[in-house]
Amino acid sequence: MPQPSSIKPNGLIVEPLQPIAITPPPLIVETATVTGAKPAARPPQPPAPPAPPPPITTNPTLAAGIDNVISDAAVGLGRVISYSLDGTGNNLTRLNQGAAGTSQLRLAPANFAPGTTNTPVTGPNARVISNTLMANSPGTADPGGRSAYMYAFGQFLDHDMSRTPSQTGANAQTLSITVPTNDAVFTPGSSITITRSLTDPTNGNAVNAVTSALDLSQIYGSDAKTAASLRNADGTLVTTAGNNPPIVNGQFVGGDVRASENPDLTAIDALFVREHNYWVAKLHAQQPNLTGDQLYDMARAITTAEYQSITYNEYLPTLLGKNALGAYTGYNPKVSTQIFEEFSAAAFRFGHSIISTNEGKISNSGAVLESTNLITAMGETTAQVTANGGFDALLRNLAQDFSNKEGVQIASELLNLFNPGAPGSNFDLGAVDVLRTRDLGIATLNQTRVALGFKAYTSFAQITSDTTLATKLQTVYGTVDKVDLFVGGLAETPVAGSMVGQTFQRIIVNQFQNLRAGDRLFFENQGFTPQMMQQIEHTTMSDLILRDTDTKAMQSNAFIATQRHSSDVVTPIASMPQLVIGVDTNGATISATAGVANTLVAGAGINQTLVGGGSSDVFTFLGTGHSDIVQGFQPKVDVLDFENLATQFSFADVGLRAGTKGDTIVTLGGNTIDVLGVAPSALHASNFLFNATNPAMMISPGNGSGH
Ligand code: HEM
Repeated sequence: MPQPSSIKPNGLIVEPLQPIAITPPPLIVETATVTGAKPAARPPQPPAPPAPPPPITTNPTLAAGIDNVISDAAVGLGRVISYSLDGTGNNLTRLNQGAAGTSQLRLAPANFAPGTTNTPVTGPNARVISNTLMANSPGTADPGGRSAYMYAFGQFLDHDMSRTPSQTGANAQTLSITVPTNDAVFTPGSSITITRSLTDPTNGNAVNAVTSALDLSQIYGSDAKTAASLRNADGTLVTTAGNNPPIVNGQFVGGDVRASENPDLTAIDALFVREHNYWVAKLHAQQPNLTGDQLYDMARAITTAEYQSITYNEYLPTLLGKNALGAYTGYNPKVSTQIFEEFSAAAFRFGHSIISTNEGKISNSGAVLESTNLITAMGETTAQVTANGGFDALLRNLAQDFSNKEGVQIASELLNLFNPGAPGSNFDLGAVDVLRTRDLGIATLNQTRVALGFKAYTSFAQITSDTTLATKLQTVYGTVDKVDLFVGGLAETPVAGSMVGQTFQRIIVNQFQNLRAGDRLFFENQGFTPQMMQQIEHTTMSDLILRDTDTKAMQSNAFIATQRHSSDVVTPIASMPQLVIGVDTNGATISATAGVANTLVAGAGINQTLVGGGSSDVFTFLGTGHSDIVQGFQPKVDVLDFENLATQFSFADVGLRAGTKGDTIVTLGGNTIDVLGVAPSALHASNFLFNATNPAMMISPGNGSGH
């Protein structure tokens, strides 16, 4: 019988027989005010101490004969160890842990038919579950205002971590359900069929075909042969016209076989390929004598570190809530980096429910270049994908489009696909997800909750506060103990600040805590120089988009949907953060819509007039040589943002002098900005942003209020 791993409350999961005491991080509590007593007036505060120096990273334990060490402090790598391509050798005691082709772990005991170790349990017909609970038309936008990057980056991330292969060959087993009589789309009596998953004969657990660590295997490959086919001798990754990923047999290919599953996913693949090549060029310029192999290893290490930082500092807090994960506490060799079956088969498939099927390409100023449906786009040729602005235009649109609200509902197009290939012609992603959990013997919602240390639900109303949904769950399942993990996890009311409910949140937190703590080569445990470390930690998704596409302006947080449009377009959804980007024409006027808050106004030419809208506006100057006018500036909440300057500036460098009409003339780095209606004394350091090295524009994160 497959053994579950042992779980520590709120902590890390370790492999069986290797218990480890985890002390949860201390809670930070606010100082309480004694009732009735007037709080003492706050004494004047001394000036804030200078920011502490960046943390000096520790070096991972070196394993002679196993590790490929990169050492060149001059370019920021004190002593960094490369991930092996197949994932072996990360853990020095269990060399195969997390390697491609090894088994996954379980959080809860396997749930197969009584008395068997591999026969799926029976349950309500998965297509009936899909028709009753999941069918969703039209989708609802995420109420937290999160962007489509939540699913696009989520799928990209997942393809780094897991691929549960199916059985192959003449003896491959299948699992089917019959389409019910009243089905509106598929022929009643026909089947939805999946091929059963490959399992590891030693423990009965599912196999993971890719490396589990966050090592960008979806870019570089999970084996040496694939990796070699994707790189050039000079250290760059292979690209095709337009700096796009390589094309084989008419399809974009990457390190993972699913790279061209849909154009949004391929666009992120392209972004990271370009980022790798950006670093190769930069490192080569700094040290022309570095070999192609050295450049490849170094660029791979830095790009992977940036990706890990984006995952832990941007994506996961936006998905799970700010502090759901806790701080990194260092490498722990006892913690396993294996993928949990409950994660790959259920919890991280939450992403299927947030896919919005609007697919679009937009220009720098937000003009729609192409608009289609994701399912249609999945069938496009590479020429169609790269037309109309291609990946750059797709990547811009993802930052302004919403994810759908997480829940049991899934976009109808994904539930009613016809797959002409074997083994069946009907394909329903939601029903297949349910079938897959039964194929893999995944514990029910309640069994999983108990394994995680939560109480089992005793009523449907405890799963969700949505009474209609609770009634539907009752109709389908009859008893709460039967609810499948995938369905019940999606049905749970989301935890405050998180997209997902309690059970999925815990599984996802456990998975990413383990992947961080159990990875000897996690970027915070490597030997990057402090300067390089600081640069890595300040690189955001928006930075990559600005650096590696032709995009001229981005909101600071790509995971919060921000509407991009030019100033001659009336703000379409005023409750959303706005990015008003002007034309290239010198001397143009770029105006935010009056009264609309949280707007980023950016001029792509010089000598322009930027006009603010409501409160919390950011006026952005791209490049140098500006002689611009700013109107509607509110010193308490607005910001002047100097982007792409050659040198890093601070407030001390800014020249402020009174103009002749109650205005302030601001001078900096060859720019002269006339801020109308504002006296010099009203401008402070907080009114300025300088972003020379990582030019991302600022819109305060978390302001996406949705619509
Ligand atoms: C258009 C978008 C997507 C499509 C068409 C798609 C389709 C699929 C399909 C066909 C499978 C295999 C189903 C099975 O046989 O069990 C799968 C697995 C999976 N998907 Fe998606 N998916 C999409 C987006 C996403 C997103 C946004 C996420 C997460 C944020 C996600 C997470 C997963 C996971 C974790 C698996 C299991 C991986 C494994 O094999 O271990 N998918 N998806």
